[in-house]
Amino acid sequence: MSPGVRRREFLAAGAAAGAVAGLARDALGQVQPKPVRLGVIGVGGRGSYLLGVALKAGVEVPALCDIAPAAIARGTAIVEKAGGKKPEGYQKGPTDYQRMLQRDDLDAVLVTTPMQLHAPMSIDALRAGKHALSEVAAAMTVDECWGIVRAADETGKVYMLAENCCYWFHCLMILNMVQKGLFGELTYAECGYVHDCRSLLFQGDGSLTWRGEMARDCCGNVYPTHSLGPVAQWLGINRGDRMVSLVAGRTGSAALNDYVAKRFPEGHAARQIRFKLPDSSTTLIRTAKGALIDLRFDMCSARPHPTTTYYTLQGVKASYDSRQQFIWLDGRTPGYRWEELSKYMKEFEHPLWTKHGAEAKATGHEGADYFPIREFLQAVRKGAPPPIDAADAAAWSVIIPLSAKSIAEDGAPQEIPDFTKGKWETRKG
Ligand SMILES: NC(=O)c1ccc[n+]([C@@H]2O[C@H](COP(=O)([O-])OP(=O)(O)OC[C@H]3O[C@@H](n4cnc5c(N)ncnc54)[C@H](O)[C@@H]3O)[C@@H](O)[C@H]2O)c1
Repeated sequence: MSPGVRRREFLAAGAAAGAVAGLARDALGQVQPKPVRLGVIGVGGRGSYLLGVALKAGVEVPALCDIAPAAIARGTAIVEKAGGKKPEGYQKGPTDYQRMLQRDDLDAVLVTTPMQLHAPMSIDALRAGKHALSEVAAAMTVDECWGIVRAADETGKVYMLAENCCYWFHCLMILNMVQKGLFGELTYAECGYVHDCRSLLFQGDGSLTWRGEMARDCCGNVYPTHSLGPVAQWLGINRGDRMVSLVAGRTGSAALNDYVAKRFPEGHAARQIRFKLPDSSTTLIRTAKGALIDLRFDMCSARPHPTTTYYTLQGVKASYDSRQQFIWLDGRTPGYRWEELSKYMKEFEHPLWTKHGAEAKATGHEGADYFPIREFLQAVRKGAPPPIDAADAAAWSVIIPLSAKSIAEDGAPQEIPDFTKGKWETRKG
């Protein structure tokens, strides 16, 4: 075979391999990833921000959907400013996203609508043959959780939960330490989302936002994944262990009612609303391997920002507390005392941060928002399982209905379904 023939065959083979892996060649013949064509449903605060992050990662955006024309206009301006073609807007009402899902020039959708809509929209997207990246939480009911798992299984499309807190520098660093065995057997984790969000429950006129509607309608932990996500990854939930049952308890709603009384005058309609959401709730989760997770949720108590998320992890050989960023490592920490986590930063920085840290930091939010978009696009391009898949999203989100059920039943234990359908001990990733 002549070198010319060999070269032609090599290029043809390369082009075929590239096509399989979703790659294309640029004018210079260099292999480039083919841009993923992404539609966005819900171009509000979060949607427009993640749209910008996705555009920086090289996606094309042929279509946007929102019930608010102003949101479509804002999203369109973001796409055009990034050098993209004007996307088509879908703004004919709450179900117009289904018309967008019929397009054949969309590979994937980003779902950044109010939380109550994530599951139906993600399921419809998967069933319409699109990959789906959903904002947190994934679902509000047990049935919706199963719906996502079934839709991902049956369509073979990539479903990923965009849980950005799993990608904080320190959360990935602890994951790296756990995987290298520094913690030994894991026994206990404490985590929480504690963030005074009372002002976000109301529109200017006192009517409820979608967050306010959740506070009116739900008594459980309605925002579990920021706190639980990293802990679940440390404990190997759905990959060696699984959450089997929970009990939950609550406070009253004194701080929420106090806020309403101070903000709205007597006789105002907002004062008539009976909120189910407690100021604070705690959910205790037991795992199959005997670990205990103490999960706090509080978006109504008065306290200055920022507290937001915190994490502790206890192993037989190590202990970590994110509130001071302290760690103790048996055999490494001199004496029996806490040390600054930063001392181990160089040694245990997670490879994702070593490789992409500079790019990640440039996207803001301390870099955490860059990774869910990147990891999702990688999974779509490679046809590989995403790092936070439907079974993970369902397990983390099912805390919403089950903590509410436990609270409603005065702390009765609730069984947590096995969304891996028996594969939790052997799943890798
Ligand atoms: N991961 C994070 O750090 C983080 C931060 C903020 C918000 N979020 C999540 O992002 C989601 C959106 O939050 P947000 O603060 O951007 O809310 P938002 O109210 O600013 O945006 C929601 C958008 O969805 C649109 N919408 C409502 N119903 C729709 C429908 N049927 N079809 C199409 N569009 C519709 C609204 O018009 C609005 O533009 C929430 O689920 C929230 O939990 C995550």
